[in-house]
Amino acid sequence: MTDFSSVKVKVAIVTGAADGLGKAIAQCYAENGMKVVVSDINADKGSKVAEEIRAAGGEAVFFKADVSKEDEVKGLVDFAVATYGRLDGLVNNAGIAAENRPTHEFSVAEFDKLMAIDLRGVFLGMKFAVEAILKTKSTGGFIINVASQAGILGNSSMATYVSAKHGVVGLTKSAALDYAPHNISVNAICPGTFRTSIWGQAPEEVVSQYAKLLSPNGRLGDPKEIGHLALFLASDLARYISGSAIVIDAGSHAGKVTPVQWAHPEILE
Ligand SMILES: NC(=O)c1ccc[n+]([C@@H]2O[C@H](COP(=O)([O-])OP(=O)(O)OC[C@H]3O[C@@H](n4cnc5c(N)ncnc54)[C@H](O)[C@@H]3O)[C@@H](O)[C@H]2O)c1
Repeated sequence: MTDFSSVKVKVAIVTGAADGLGKAIAQCYAENGMKVVVSDINADKGSKVAEEIRAAGGEAVFFKADVSKEDEVKGLVDFAVATYGRLDGLVNNAGIAAENRPTHEFSVAEFDKLMAIDLRGVFLGMKFAVEAILKTKSTGGFIINVASQAGILGNSSMATYVSAKHGVVGLTKSAALDYAPHNISVNAICPGTFRTSIWGQAPEEVVSQYAKLLSPNGRLGDPKEIGHLALFLASDLARYISGSAIVIDAGSHAGKVTPVQWAHPEILE
């Protein structure tokens, strides 16, 4: 029988877990018996996520850390080990988006800020978490870096975000080779368009218009679907997967959609 029970002994940190995809990953991990360190720069929302997980019978604690700050990321990893006595995995999920502009109109400060959070943050997380996972002697260690479809494809008006996310995929591939002999898998998840806070209070008809435009199956992704993929990658079922940038986008990166009239539409009736 195939089951996910290998995750039950594992301790993982999820960054940017106060909201969106990170929150869904932390919840999915805890529902499946993992011990989770919920981390975010937003202490109010992050603490609430950990409380909700505990109220639902799961195991989670909150630790505030800004992923762009070396001492805070080190503090986060030290806290996880001090709390649970081990570390098996890290999900480097925290990230910010940028305004859409042509490349030359980004300021240097905007470029530096985006890189500090979306790229350096991932490096810092791996640097300190890998050390702790190695010391734990985990037989099922894992790093999951949340990149983006923008880690695989270019995008006009998104030069800073696209270059940071391509960098995340590069870090993932190189680290996968460093740690393959040491029982640590390193993979990137590359989401298409998911329904998180970026959609804010946008009216339903606007969301559904964009969903049709951005996703071949006509709907935005549900953050829980990222949780399911992250759970699989954390489990021992996925030990032979490493160095991969796994796109999860209903096929939108696969190519162009050309509208066509079906000769026999009655097959759908
Ligand atoms: N939602 C999507 O459609 C989508 C698509 C592709 C990639 N992504 C990536 O997924 C990840 C999560 O995105 P989301 O949509 O859930 O975003 P979100 O804004 O809903 O959540 C991001 C979380 O990260 C936290 N955060 C921001 N800066 C931080 C910092 N410096 N240190 C620690 N925490 C910080 C925020 O407080 C927030 O809780 C990001 O890396 C994003 O680039 C999202």
